[in-house]
Amino acid sequence: MAAPKRADGVGVLRDLQVALQLKIDELMERDALIDELELELDAKELLIRHLQAELDRERTFASCGDNTAAEVPNKAGGEPPMMRVSLDEPQRTKRQAISAEPTALDPAQLTDVTLTSYCKTKESSELIQRALMDNDFMKHLEHGQILTILDCMRPTSLERGCCVIQEGDDGSSVYVLEEGMVEVTKEGKKLCTIGPGKVFGELAILYNCTRTATVTALTDIKLWAIDRQGFQTIMMRTGLIKHSQYTDFLRSVPSFQALPEDILSKLADVLEETHYTDGDYIIRQGATGDTFFIISEGQVTVSQQSAPSDEKVMLSKGDWFGEQALKG
Ligand code: CMP
Repeated sequence: MAAPKRADGVGVLRDLQVALQLKIDELMERDALIDELELELDAKELLIRHLQAELDRERTFASCGDNTAAEVPNKAGGEPPMMRVSLDEPQRTKRQAISAEPTALDPAQLTDVTLTSYCKTKESSELIQRALMDNDFMKHLEHGQILTILDCMRPTSLERGCCVIQEGDDGSSVYVLEEGMVEVTKEGKKLCTIGPGKVFGELAILYNCTRTATVTALTDIKLWAIDRQGFQTIMMRTGLIKHSQYTDFLRSVPSFQALPEDILSKLADVLEETHYTDGDYIIRQGATGDTFFIISEGQVTVSQQSAPSDEKVMLSKGDWFGEQALKG
């Protein structure tokens, strides 16, 4: 692959600008469709989970114990990040398995919502964090979001026999159980019991649906709760902050400084951060180009098979490559 020529930068940049605009429009349309399909998929996944749970219950005639999968969250490694504009999405990671842009909260209200933090002991903080990261529906949240949710959770307690959540109600809070036991029932039938260190009440908030089951305290219980508005604000703010960080990054790249603000903003919309470790191949010569890269940290070597091995070009922060992909 030929290294980008910096000398005719203005002409190339203009061509790229036009090609980029076309690609961005195309991507936006595709993204809107993907969003729609993913929402549909999420809803179907949710239904499957519920049907599966019903099936398990029918099969075993026993209480199911712990209802959440305790998988280790897939954390990003410490490799240097790179920004990619993917024009085809073969490596697309599934977007967050939750509604990252909840419809219940108007973005205009975002600045009005004050997030309050509540003091917690180290033990409580660890229990909440583990619970959030263990939960099937929340483990894909970014680490920063998990920490902010944790920070905003307030303590509450209820006596044995109290109804924490009533099936069919509008959901107002997501809970983490710290002490005691609760029972989950649906249409009067027991689904399972939940013990300390588990999240519940997340479905109605994440999916903007009514409560899918009733949750009753089997003992006196101690809970941590975050309300719907706080939760949704954290989700949306993170998206906006990220967008502004990406726009700032693009503005800091000399080759992109001439781009109008709306193009930078659209580019930031489709930018994804990706990490490579030392020695990884990013693009192979001869492979179909579908991604345009801008280096945000680290260094990249560009080499060509036909060229002598010492004819390598080093690219670093702010340099870009894979631009042929933008030209289609
Ligand atoms: P939500 O629908 O907001 O309120 C009721 C909660 O009960 C729900 O979120 C889940 O946290 C929990 N819940 C619903 N169905 C099940 C199930 N089959 N097994 C375990 N927990 C459930």
